[in-house]
Amino acid sequence: MKLSNFFIFSFFISGFLWSVQVEGSTRHHHNHHQHQHQHNNNNPNIYKNDPKKHQIYGFKPTKLFVFGDSYVDTGNNRKSIANSWKKPYGVTFPGKPSGRFSDGRVLTDYLAKFFGVKSPVPYRWMKYATNRLRYGVNFAYGGTGVFNTLVPEPNMTTQIDFFQKLMAESVYTKADIEESSLFLLSLAGNDYGAYLATGGTVQNLPAFITSVVNQLVINMKRVNQLGAKKIAVTALEPLGCLPQSTILNSFQQCNATENTAVDFHNSLLQQAVEKLNNETIGSTFMILDLFSSFNTVLNSKGVPGSTRFETPLKPCCMGISKEYSCGSMNEKGEKMYTVCNDPKSAFFWDRVHPTEAGWNAIYNALKSTLTQKIL
Ligand SMILES: *[C@@H]1O[C@H](CO)[C@@H](O)[C@H](O)[C@H]1NC(C)=O
Ligand SMILES: *[C@@H]1O[C@H](CO)[C@@H](O)[C@H](O)[C@H]1NC(C)=O
Ligand SMILES: *[C@@H]1O[C@H](CO)[C@@H](O)[C@H](O)[C@H]1NC(C)=O
Repeated sequence: MKLSNFFIFSFFISGFLWSVQVEGSTRHHHNHHQHQHQHNNNNPNIYKNDPKKHQIYGFKPTKLFVFGDSYVDTGNNRKSIANSWKKPYGVTFPGKPSGRFSDGRVLTDYLAKFFGVKSPVPYRWMKYATNRLRYGVNFAYGGTGVFNTLVPEPNMTTQIDFFQKLMAESVYTKADIEESSLFLLSLAGNDYGAYLATGGTVQNLPAFITSVVNQLVINMKRVNQLGAKKIAVTALEPLGCLPQSTILNSFQQCNATENTAVDFHNSLLQQAVEKLNNETIGSTFMILDLFSSFNTVLNSKGVPGSTRFETPLKPCCMGISKEYSCGSMNEKGEKMYTVCNDPKSAFFWDRVHPTEAGWNAIYNALKSTLTQKIL
């Protein structure tokens, strides 16, 4: 992998977070039967909540436990530091800011919908929603990484500590975790943004990428040791296609140099996941390939079943100049950003995050793999 000409990507913009959530598509559950493999077929109890689904060989999670960043965060971030709590975030869903880094639903919400469960409650709000604990918990914080970033929020290790604490308090049983829970780890790039923003050099980037993937693998092994039997991890999306990179060419084309670095991260991750699966019984670990799904959607301006995006690289909401971002206000309370007329027609919401329509398209692109790999 040639990274010698790799240069700074201004990946870390203060106030961007990565979030994902989705709910409420009308699609009902589908016939995964043909794709079933032989996981978990020894435990009939996992279907007890859904007698109508006769998936003898399938795995049907009823709980999601989510770790990571703004691509999956549904409201853990503090209002004082996150744009996700400012207008116009949340304008499409739920109609006001909800802590999601989008105009609406994010990846977590769409995955929950896929499994027919409610989106798991953000960890920060769990004591106000104990009735939702049966769907799992979302521990993800926008802006975070596997290492500490510029955002003063818990890194992935600390997020897993929170989960471990709930286990120690018997909020969940080992059986809950082993038999009916899907774990999702999202790493969308904040470690790299922080690395470059704090003077990390391009020469050392390959070594840093290696250490990021190694730490991610440590985290995956740790949740496995805590009982998780189904662990999905996101491949890094094409960072060079995010508006923060393509703004330099008026959102015309992706930055290939940056995507080369992403390839390196993803190939290390792919090898690591293969190795982990070789070392464990069944297919415990899987990759949610955001790299391919972003590329598919961006290249074909949508996928069947999703919106058509006429200018997929162009974000809907942007600061009026470099100092401002989506949601910024000046001292007088005036908006320092512009929003497109129809967020449903845009793939990207802000400089780094898809819109709800964007996530819906990603979800449609991912669905076939989800069926094969998880169910
Ligand atoms: C692509 O990104 C690299 C690294 O951030 C930067 O040095 C380069 O100028 C960018 N290329 C283009 C064509 O924007
Ligand atoms: C995660 O955060 C904690 C608390 O700041 C820190 O002690 C720990 O070293 C961090 N873990 C990693 C892997 O960076
Ligand atoms: C996993 O096992 C397969 C089959 O034994 C082997 O071909 C492959 O090289 C292994 N992969 C890794 C990363 O260890």
